[in-house]
Amino acid sequence: MESFGPLQFLKDRTTLITVATGFLAKIFVEKILRIQPNVKKLYLLVRAEDTQSATKRVQNEIVEKDLLRVVRDTCGANLESFISEKVVSVAGDVSFLDLGVKDSQVRGQMLREIDLVVNFAATSSFDESLSAR
Ligand SMILES: NC(=O)c1ccc[n+]([C@@H]2O[C@H](COP(=O)([O-])OP(=O)(O)OC[C@H]3O[C@@H](n4cnc5c(N)ncnc54)[C@H](OP(=O)(O)O)[C@@H]3O)[C@@H](O)[C@H]2O)c1
Repeated sequence: MESFGPLQFLKDRTTLITVATGFLAKIFVEKILRIQPNVKKLYLLVRAEDTQSATKRVQNEIVEKDLLRVVRDTCGANLESFISEKVVSVAGDVSFLDLGVKDSQVRGQMLREIDLVVNFAATSSFDESLSAR
């Protein structure tokens, strides 16, 4: 009988995570890489000018952070190849058409490959001057 562990539904599937650099999304990305390394691919959409800047954001704000310590320890010297095999950084902005992904080749690839979308994009503001009446 097939077992359904945590995040089992992501196994062999390609997932788009919007705004991977947000607080909650980062935790989710770490959890996937740690407990479901058999995810097929993770597209991480971040606000950036182009793919190079998006890749740099993912590298600086996720991969190199202490957050990925367990994954880093598990992968050892294979971390870089694991990340490049699983993670695709995409420059975009969810408030625009086509998620603001300007590169048509990347858009086509995303349309063909992505099975699931998890949206974390948000603008949160907490107005502390509000009081209950
Ligand atoms: N944190 C919590 O404990 C908590 C609890 C319950 C619910 N929530 C809700 O969960 C959601 C995410 O929370 P969070 O704490 O992860 O927020 P966060 O750390 O502020 O992250 C939000 C992210 O949204 C991105 N973003 C905003 N507009 C965007 C756009 N147009 N296109 C692409 N990215 C965009 C920002 O990207 P940049 O980095 O480029 O600015 C930022 O990284 C919010 O709706 C929040 O209200 C959070």
